[in-house]
Amino acid sequence: MKPSAPPQTYRVKSFGCQMNVYDGERMGELLAERGIVPAPEGEEADLVILNTCHIREKAAEKVYSDIGRLVKAGEEAGRKPLIAVAGCVAQAEGEEIMARAPAVSIVVGPQAYHRLPEMLDRATNGERATDTDMPAIAKFDALPARAKRGPSAFLTVQEGCDKFCTYCVVPYTRGAEISRPFSHLVAEAERLVEAGAKEITLLGQNVNAWAGEDDKGRRAGLGGLIRRLAQIDGLARIRYTTSHPNDMDDDLIAAHGEVAKLMPYLHLPVQSGNDRVLKAMNRQHTAEGYLKLIEKFRAARPDIALSGDFIVGFPGETEAEFADTLSIVDEVRYAACFSFKYSPRPGTPAATMDGQIAAEVMDDRLQRLQQRIAHHQYAFNQASLGKTCTVLVERTGRHPGQWLGKSPWLQSVHFEGDHAIGDLVEVTLAEAGPNSLKGQVHAAAHA
Ligand code: SAH
Ligand code: SF4
Ligand code: F3S
Repeated sequence: MKPSAPPQTYRVKSFGCQMNVYDGERMGELLAERGIVPAPEGEEADLVILNTCHIREKAAEKVYSDIGRLVKAGEEAGRKPLIAVAGCVAQAEGEEIMARAPAVSIVVGPQAYHRLPEMLDRATNGERATDTDMPAIAKFDALPARAKRGPSAFLTVQEGCDKFCTYCVVPYTRGAEISRPFSHLVAEAERLVEAGAKEITLLGQNVNAWAGEDDKGRRAGLGGLIRRLAQIDGLARIRYTTSHPNDMDDDLIAAHGEVAKLMPYLHLPVQSGNDRVLKAMNRQHTAEGYLKLIEKFRAARPDIALSGDFIVGFPGETEAEFADTLSIVDEVRYAACFSFKYSPRPGTPAATMDGQIAAEVMDDRLQRLQQRIAHHQYAFNQASLGKTCTVLVERTGRHPGQWLGKSPWLQSVHFEGDHAIGDLVEVTLAEAGPNSLKGQVHAAAHA
């Protein structure tokens, strides 16, 4: 490759989960330290970072079509952008990307992106640079202070996964479970609040596996961390995601009843309602164990809203086993869910299991599951009618004077009036749709 002028503008395209989005923001902050600014809306950037996701085949394939599009747009405009591939596809298929896509200058894994500035120097010198090391915690220490964001911010507290569900690439792309130190997290949360955050969502692939020592040197779990973060003035709401059923402890459950800033919402994926399938997935919990856990959360916080993830068409899944998944959806009455067709991932045990399910069968099951989920989501929204709650204003709505925000139960709520982004507005939920609610405003509390 030929040497090129150092980039002045960048764009990050994030394809994956919330942690992938967080990583994208952090890469932007690193570039900002070097004076590289986001490209203005509608303009080509000098540096494009494709921040990829490897979780399902469709997500992973997107990166190649995107590279093709960038190259074509560059040729038409007569200027080539520097292309960097970051994220979980970079980790899993770094060498393949370098071989298949000569236009790519940088491949950087999710644990190595703190070294992006050095890699950029090499790329502007005409070299191609790959870094997919996993130096665990070092990344966070090397990142700059948090920049100003919207009212709702992400904070990675835990990363990696030791669970090895048989369908999943995350243990390979994110590495082993690590917890960031308590004091670093308190400091980053304080900085986010200073920068305008009213709500912080704590992130981890298994966020409730977080463990550390608190400021008095005592062992703490996620519940302890949440209790400390709740003391930060100006922080109004705390959320966390994604939890694993096997990492739950009583203190976290109790925190839901005791910490007012902890929102009444829990994303707790179960994947399937059938014990044989759960076992083949290596989930290491049963459907009944999962339901018992949910009972405990409901006892601690009766209005808690549940959400989950489901996979249909796992190898060998029979119609009767799939019916157990429909049953657990009816039993839990989720407020929201994500559901996916099983996607065989290279290198995972499930990819070579017998009984791979035909595409039409998966389509049919997914459609039936999504109908059940939609039914419960709408019912949950309707059951919220008449409730008074605070909504955190996140953006303007489609019409002038209209605002959009989230209820404590993570429902989208739109309403009218004289507000600003970041306000906590008290509303009564007045109309319910399948995906959002309309609120009627009382007094605006400019928190
Ligand atoms: N750590 C979290 C979520 C990780 S990935 C957890 O354990 O729940 C997010 C979701 O993607 C998973 O919950 C699962 O429902 C889905 N998923 C993961 N691998 C998949 C695959 N190979 N095919 C289809 N869906 C998958
Ligand atoms: Fe993947 Fe399972 Fe780990 Fe979640 S717990 S990230 S689904 S291996
Ligand atoms: Fe995708 Fe990696 Fe997140 S595979 S879901 S970006 S951890």
